[in-house]
Amino acid sequence: MLQHGESMFNVSGQIGGDANLSTRGQAYARMLPELVKQSAGEGRNLTVWTSTLKRTIQTARHLTFEKLEWKALDELDSGVCDGLTYEEIEEKYPEDFRARDNDKYNYRYLGGESYRDVVIRLEPIIMELERAENVLIVTHQAILRCIYAYFMNIPQERSPWMEVPLHTLIKLTPKAYGTHEERLKADIPAVSTFRAKGSSAKHQEADSPGLGPMDEKKPVGEAK
Ligand code: F6P
Repeated sequence: MLQHGESMFNVSGQIGGDANLSTRGQAYARMLPELVKQSAGEGRNLTVWTSTLKRTIQTARHLTFEKLEWKALDELDSGVCDGLTYEEIEEKYPEDFRARDNDKYNYRYLGGESYRDVVIRLEPIIMELERAENVLIVTHQAILRCIYAYFMNIPQERSPWMEVPLHTLIKLTPKAYGTHEERLKADIPAVSTFRAKGSSAKHQEADSPGLGPMDEKKPVGEAK
């Protein structure tokens, strides 16, 4: 599973919306078939699940597998804050901004959703995933966190603060003793969309590409 490639909103630091991929996000989409081949192995037949938003559909564009769009995989609905930066949210809705930091799992955006709401709407997805094999999910930060927490057996209350970087494929394999995780990072930089508690700073450039502690494979360069 993976997040969509870097979007124009990721670059400007805006949340939500239905933005197109940035140039770097498009480059990531172009190299995704190669990255997937490295992770899943040559000739493996996968089914690709995307959300209904452009940034996930554009990310999966060059994959030749069967594709399915799920509304339930759309990003957490940020309601009245959709399209704002964290800085603007802190300015316009200071109490909400603090309330979200204090209880990010339960905080529901005005006119939008909480992580708890997302976990409920993901139930059918999780049920399908329990049955299915060889599924490649292309989705969004909050959604990925909740799916990841479920399969890694991490309490959902912790999911809102977990790091699921852009341009990184996370392969989860169920084993008898638990779920095995492998992260494969593409050699294409992207901003970090992780926001630390209390911060309203604009998205920063993520660390330079390379292998993280959980990685076992080499990063892949952009396909020519
Ligand atoms: O910034 C990218 C993004 O996917 C936003 O669209 C979304 O609101 C946010 O991440 C979710 O992350 P957090 O819950 O940490 O704000």
